[in-house]
Amino acid sequence: MDKGADGSMRGKLIQVLTEAGNEFTSGQYLSEQLGISRTAVWKHIEELRKSGYELEAVPRKGYRLLFTPDTVSAEEISSRLTTSIMGAQVHYEKSVPSTQEVAHKLARDGAAEGTVIVADEQTKGKGRLGREWFSPPGTGLWFSLLLRPDIPPQQAPQLTLLTAVAVIEGIEEATGVKAEIKWPNDLLVQGRKIAGILTEMQSEPDRVQAVIVGVGINVNQEKSSLPEDLQSIATSLAIEKGTPFHRADVLTSVLKRYEYWYQHFLHEGFDRVRRRWEALAISFGQKITARTVQGAEYGTAKGITDDGVLILEKEDGEIKYIYSADIEF
Ligand code: BTN
Repeated sequence: MDKGADGSMRGKLIQVLTEAGNEFTSGQYLSEQLGISRTAVWKHIEELRKSGYELEAVPRKGYRLLFTPDTVSAEEISSRLTTSIMGAQVHYEKSVPSTQEVAHKLARDGAAEGTVIVADEQTKGKGRLGREWFSPPGTGLWFSLLLRPDIPPQQAPQLTLLTAVAVIEGIEEATGVKAEIKWPNDLLVQGRKIAGILTEMQSEPDRVQAVIVGVGINVNQEKSSLPEDLQSIATSLAIEKGTPFHRADVLTSVLKRYEYWYQHFLHEGFDRVRRRWEALAISFGQKITARTVQGAEYGTAKGITDDGVLILEKEDGEIKYIYSADIEF
């Protein structure tokens, strides 16, 4: 059996045992539900134990799940998934330079829309504007989502905005933390960065072949574990709520909201996504400084265009369109 099939079988096993709660589930029942032999069930149970699950096995009663580790393995994600496209294929990597690179390769090799590449650690996580994204093991959600929308390349930036909406809603659903958007795609809680989005594209002149949406969410980092230069500008869901979260829960909620908004975008267009984005964004109507590679522009943030370009009104009334910048309030 291949790795992916094993992963989804164990995902189903975890799902059945989780649903049973404190009750024991017999080996016979599991073998019927999963369509495999009782010996195969037992082998999967052993594999789960090796990955940190605590499972009690009692003769004539069956199995009971006592502890689920905070992993983002394919089985843990598929056991919680409620979507049909987003996350239908999950590639888990313990440590990679960047999930974006893995996703680009899978996209070139023909991987399906909705494929998710998730890593426990990235050693060369990529941020916007060529920056590095701090991605230590065991604490954050570092993933790339592969999309194949039938749209022209100019429309691809709309997906970055859609991503911000889906990530904010997914985070709130899983944890209760309300984040806000700082243009173009920083997600902040009380002014500190909790998540970042990096959208890349493989394209022909008039059609998109693949969009790779990279998302980094700080989930369980403690303040003291953040590098000193990030302590005043970054935060995590655990810091905000004072309690750790299961990263797989956060990811599956984000995928659920993603599927909702993506379907809406494909069938109804961008308008509602943009209005939702604007409602979640912090900068509109405020005076801001936009630092671009050409220099700084000061003015009032008026809104965004359909392509996600920031509209800035300068003091003298001149309108500037800002394509890429860092924003300061
Ligand atoms: C930003 O600079 O705000 C964007 C950060 C995006 C980070 C994510 S983590 C998963 C994916 N893989 C990467 O190398 N980068 C993105």
